[in-house]
Amino acid sequence: MVSQLDSLKKFSSVVADTGDIDSIQKFNPDDCTTNPSLIFKAVQSDKYKKLVDEVISNSKSRKFSQTEDQVNYIADQLTIAFGIELTKIVPGYVSTEVDSDLSFNTEATVEKAKQIINSYEQSGIPKNRILIKIAGTWEGIQAVKKLEAEGISCNCTLIFSLTQAIACAEAGAFLISPFVGRILDWFKSNTQKDYDSSNDPGVESVEKIFNYFKKFNYNTIVMAASFRNKDEIINLAGCDKLTISPTLLEELSQNDDEIKLKLSKENNQSFNITYGNARTLLDAAQTIVKITNSKSKIVDTGRNSLYPDRGTLNIDKARQLVNYKPTMSLENGLESYYGWLQNKI
Ligand code: E4P
Repeated sequence: MVSQLDSLKKFSSVVADTGDIDSIQKFNPDDCTTNPSLIFKAVQSDKYKKLVDEVISNSKSRKFSQTEDQVNYIADQLTIAFGIELTKIVPGYVSTEVDSDLSFNTEATVEKAKQIINSYEQSGIPKNRILIKIAGTWEGIQAVKKLEAEGISCNCTLIFSLTQAIACAEAGAFLISPFVGRILDWFKSNTQKDYDSSNDPGVESVEKIFNYFKKFNYNTIVMAASFRNKDEIINLAGCDKLTISPTLLEELSQNDDEIKLKLSKENNQSFNITYGNARTLLDAAQTIVKITNSKSKIVDTGRNSLYPDRGTLNIDKARQLVNYKPTMSLENGLESYYGWLQNKI
């Protein structure tokens, strides 16, 4: 049987989200992403002691005005040292993150990005193998704009909304990393609701961004990141790239349940009824009538000024009436809706 990981690779480019060089070889990812907490986790393992000792010892031959500068230097060099090793394992890109303390300083971010690229180049790694990971703050996005204009490709990270994603794409970001798990974490701790794979707000955020980008032909790659469980990944099959931790890569490789394509440019275009000229619910309803060859006549009676509530849509009630299931595709949903209507006739 084909593993879920292998099936997933038919729909999306699979990326390893780790600093643990040894743990990913067997999964053959296309690219690799790192961040400071992943590198911190990796440096604590005895496996990488030699690498860490080397970087610390090299730093001793330099002069620093204060210890903090030396620590920052070591942290940068360690990130790059891990990045260099990762370029030997993956054929594609390695993402290296700029210190998040610089997230609100455009100039400092640009300077740090150039230093990182310089260090890689001095070690023989060309800049076309590296993506500079920059937080999607306003200042970060301005830095991305400058760097992309100078031929340095960026991975705009910590993307939590469509607005942020569009700003990155307009700035010419090579790639964005919309987060899934961090959104779910927030909703879990700030609402009283239960979340599962049918209503995961992190997954919904990525779907929205992906569909928007494909609809409006943005070239920026969408790489979903920050996963908390395997279902989140499976529900985004078809996203341009998915960056996945070694633990979840392992889970996917051990399971052979079927995976279906969830996101695609084609699906998005054929089912899109509210873009283009259709702007109101009435427009959308007319589009549905047209594409389903229905003989219905759409009328808009507007709000009744005496009974204002009568004109108000009650989405929950409408869903109940048509037996709405969030996991159902639009195609199947329409089919079951027609079935339901037939029973009423
Ligand atoms: C990847 O690029 C991100 O840094 C990573 O997926 C974040 O994951 P987290 O939310 O588990 O920290």
